[in-house]
Amino acid sequence: MMYRILVGHPHPGVRQKVVDTLQDRFLIIPVNLNEVYSQTESVAPRLVLLDAYADDSLLEHLLATGVQTALIAEEANLNLMRKAGLYDVALLTLPLTPGCIDAVLAGEKTCPIPLSAENPIDDALQPKGKDGTEIPGESLRSLTGTTLAKELIVVGSPKGGSGKTVIAVNLAATIHQLTGQSVALADLDVPWGDVPAQLQLTPERNLLAFRSSPEVIRESVVKEVMQRHSSGIYVLASPPGVFDESFIDPSLARKILTNLPRFFDYVVVDTGANLHVHTLEAFRYATKLICVTNYDTATLHDTTRWLNQLKARNIIHEPKDVWQIFNRVTGKEGIDLNEAQAFLGASIVNTVRWSMKIQRAINQGKIPSQADADFGEEIARIVHRLCPQARQSGGLIDRLRNLVAR
Ligand SMILES: Nc1ncnc2c1ncn2[C@@H]1O[C@H](COP(=O)(O)OP(=O)(O)OP(=O)(O)O)[C@@H](O)[C@H]1O
Ligand SMILES: [Mg+2]
Repeated sequence: MMYRILVGHPHPGVRQKVVDTLQDRFLIIPVNLNEVYSQTESVAPRLVLLDAYADDSLLEHLLATGVQTALIAEEANLNLMRKAGLYDVALLTLPLTPGCIDAVLAGEKTCPIPLSAENPIDDALQPKGKDGTEIPGESLRSLTGTTLAKELIVVGSPKGGSGKTVIAVNLAATIHQLTGQSVALADLDVPWGDVPAQLQLTPERNLLAFRSSPEVIRESVVKEVMQRHSSGIYVLASPPGVFDESFIDPSLARKILTNLPRFFDYVVVDTGANLHVHTLEAFRYATKLICVTNYDTATLHDTTRWLNQLKARNIIHEPKDVWQIFNRVTGKEGIDLNEAQAFLGASIVNTVRWSMKIQRAINQGKIPSQADADFGEEIARIVHRLCPQARQSGGLIDRLRNLVAR
């Protein structure tokens, strides 16, 4: 008997892809997400494939009916990362193969599913040298269990020079320090990225190297392209020169944003003060979006306009979805923090004080959060609020206490 598989996905293109790939072996019934309730009753499918936007009540309903569910992870985004744990099978990456559906039906729980040579995921799971032998060395992250980063934190701002890179670099280093888990720092400020300059790194490769990679990037390639910094974080550099190719297309941005979370527990992304397509892609994929602004009326106005832009583009629902960090605060601005917070409609706000020590540390190639205790404490406080999973699982609170007590 041919199993019936219901595909609930809003994009006809994705539904068609699934039909094309699987129709020889399964009876595929493509429907809109909102039809899944009724169709589950009428066609009694063996498996329901859903996209990341399925709401919790639908998942609960399917759980109650006992039908198996799997998530089509065409794109890793906010919803996907939050909800992956709710599905029977957390992650199937397009292109799906009949083999990977067999594994789902057989009750495989760990994903991506290492199955057959036809499954590109299989390749990604087991990095091999050119001669087919395993590549020795430290594994970035086990791909069994959780399949995606716990957080993809994107740092943006409407203003150049507001401190985005300083905040991104220090958040990445502090998350690694406090959680002990793997952290990637991706410089998506194309074409003006300066993460390597702040970290005094001279990377030989940069993110353009991923252009020739398949959609599912191998661990060995990730290791080759990214550079490990002495703080323990892995850095993905942006292209060094300003030339045509420096403006990256959205598909390359998406490739980076969907693959890094497969290899790292946390991914931090630095962006530029622009709304280029790759910047917007980064905002779309963020589980936490941070806006670094300064404390003056012009910047506050710009930030409101920036937030409105993000709302108009359906990247955020409300300004309060964005974490505001007021950087370079001196306390002499003559602006009340509560008023600024209310003006922006922000719910989560942190302030970082201006300090010569921060500038000096950067100029000396040091990580300021490790060189200046006050700044380190503020960054640790932000990490503490940003990464609730780390608090639950990694003893973060204790480590944070130790750090602050030093
Ligand atoms: N809290 C602070 N105290 C003192 N100096 C700071 C602080 N934050 C940032 N700076 C300094 O401000 C400068 C600009 O910071 P940074 O490069 O992080 O800004 P940016 O927003 O990333 O800029 P761009 O838009 O060019 O990418 C740096 O030289 C840094 O040393
Ligand atoms: Mg910068």
